[in-house]
Amino acid sequence: MSEMNADSRKTRLNRTPEWLALGKHREALGQTHLRELFETNPGRGADYTLRVGDLYIDYSKHLVTDETLALLRELAAATGVAELRDAMFRGEKINTTEDRAVLHTALRAPRDAVVEVDGENVVPAVHAVLDKMAAFSEQVRSGKWTGFTGKRIKNVVNIGIGGSDLGPAMAYEALRAFTDRGLTLRFVSNVDGADLHEALRGLDPAETLFIIASKTFTTIETITNATSARTWLLAGLGGDDAAVARHFVALSTNAEKVEEFGIDPANMFGFWDWVGGRYSFDSAIGLSLMIAIGPDAFREMLDGFHTVDEHFRTAPPERNAPLLMGMLGVWYGGFFDAHSHAVLPYSHYLSRFTAYLQQLDMESNGKSVDRDGNPVDWHTGPVVWGTPGTNGQHAYYQLLHQGTRMIPADFIGFARPVAELEPELEAQHDLLMANFFAQTQALAFGKTEEEVRAEGVAEALVPHKTFRGNHPTTTILADELTPAVLGQLVALYEHKVFVQGAVWNIDSFDQWGVELGKVLAKQVEPALIDGSRTEDLDPSTRELVSTYRKLRGR
Ligand code: F6P
Repeated sequence: MSEMNADSRKTRLNRTPEWLALGKHREALGQTHLRELFETNPGRGADYTLRVGDLYIDYSKHLVTDETLALLRELAAATGVAELRDAMFRGEKINTTEDRAVLHTALRAPRDAVVEVDGENVVPAVHAVLDKMAAFSEQVRSGKWTGFTGKRIKNVVNIGIGGSDLGPAMAYEALRAFTDRGLTLRFVSNVDGADLHEALRGLDPAETLFIIASKTFTTIETITNATSARTWLLAGLGGDDAAVARHFVALSTNAEKVEEFGIDPANMFGFWDWVGGRYSFDSAIGLSLMIAIGPDAFREMLDGFHTVDEHFRTAPPERNAPLLMGMLGVWYGGFFDAHSHAVLPYSHYLSRFTAYLQQLDMESNGKSVDRDGNPVDWHTGPVVWGTPGTNGQHAYYQLLHQGTRMIPADFIGFARPVAELEPELEAQHDLLMANFFAQTQALAFGKTEEEVRAEGVAEALVPHKTFRGNHPTTTILADELTPAVLGQLVALYEHKVFVQGAVWNIDSFDQWGVELGKVLAKQVEPALIDGSRTEDLDPSTRELVSTYRKLRGR
C-alpha cells in the first residue's frame, strides 16, 4: 500500500473526519422518508442507476442523497479502497495474516494478460489448467472417458465443503438450463453420512465419477467422505484398486496429499495458494460445473467475471457498482445499526445463490480485529441471508415489511425466463416479476395511515394495516440468467465484499475463526467413541458427551 494510505490507517476508522462527517449527515437526515426523497427528486428513479455488463442496477430506493453518496466516496478514498484494489490486481500479498496474494481475478484474465506473483506471470498456468479441464470435460461429456468396466460416465459426484462445494453447487443449480441433461450431478459436503448415502442412492459405481475438491486436501469432512466413496466404489467394482484411477479425480493445491490418498497426480487439476477457497469456483474447483455446462459456457462465465473485474478496476467512483454497493452496506451498518443484509433472487435457479454468498461475505468480513490486530470498534460484516423471493414473501417478508429492524435487501430478477420453459410456464414469468417490482415498491413507500383510513379500514385495525415503508433495497435486473450473467453477479458481490473489508480495515481473505471448532472436534471425538479424555472437556460439554454416550448405548 502507498505511504499515504498507510498513514491514513493510523487514524481509527470511526475517528476519521470522513466518518464523522457521515455521522453528522446521518443526524441531519433524521427520519427522512424515501417518499420525501422521491418527491424532492423524481428523477432519481432513472438517475440512481448503473449499468455493468448485462446488469442494470437501481439504487434509487436507498436512504441516500447526492451528498450521502459524495461523503461515502470520500470515506472510500480516505480508507484507501482504490489503493488496496490496485494492490490486489497487481498480485501484492494483501492477505497479510497468511502472507498471500489475492488473485481470483487472474483466474478469469484473458490468455494474453500478464499478472505477476513474486515476479512470475501466472496467467499461462491458469490457462493451462483451464485447457486441461476443458479436455477432460469433453472426454466425459462425449463418453470417451469411460469407467473401469468400460461403461460411459453418467453420474458426477463432487465431494468438497465450503468453497470447494458452495460455488460449483450454486452455479450448477443456476445454470441447469445450460447443462447436459444426460448427466446426473450431485454435491456431497456434510460429514453426516446421510449426505453421501443419499447422493449415492441409485447410482451405478461403474458409471460414477468422483471429483474430490479440496484446496488443502486435509479437510476432515472431505477426506472422510472421499474415503467412504472409494470404499463404495471398490465394493461395487470387485475390489480392484486400479478402478480408482478411472473414477476419482482431484482438485487441489496439494499434490502430495492427493497422491497419498491414492489419486494419480495425472488426474489432478491444480490451483494456487493465491486463490481463496470462497473465491475458487472459477478455478479447477469448477470442474464439475464445466463437465455439466461444457467448456464454452464455462469460458463465457469467466468472461462475465472479467467484465466486472475490469469495471471495478477502471470505472470512476461515481459509476463503480461494487464500490457503491459496498459503501451502501457501510452506511447502513455504521449509521443505521443494520445487522443483516438480505439477498432475494427472483429466480428458482438462484436457490443456492444466497447460501453461496453467506460464505463469500461472512467468512470474508466476519472479523473483529483490524489488519494490525487491534480490536475494531465499528460493525464489520452483516449476517447475510435470503432465499428465492416469492417463497420468502409467504414466510419472512412480514418482518421485512412491519418488523422493527432495518434490513437492507438486494432483489435480483430477470426480464426473461430460461428459453426451454413451456409456453404456459413462460407466461408465469410476468406474475413472478410483478411480485419482484411490487415488493421493492411496498418496502420503500409503504402505506400511510391516511391511505389505510381512506380504504374504510376500522380505526382499531389502522395501525396493523399501516406500512411504515422506508426499507432500502437495491434492484439488480438482467435480461436472462446466462453463464456470463452469473459470472458478472458473482464478481459484483466478490468486489462489494472487498470494498467493505477495505473500509473496515480487516483482512477479508483469512478465516482463522473456523479453526478453533476444528481443533476441538478432534478432542471431543475420542471422548464420544471410548469415553477417553473427558477430563479435558468443560463441565457442560462433559455432561452432554456423557448423555450422548448413554443414548448410543456406550
Ligand atoms: O471452512 C473453512 C474452510 O477453510 C473454507 O475457507 C474452505 O472453503 C473450506 O474450509 C474447504 O477447504 P478445502 O478446500 O481446503 O477442503
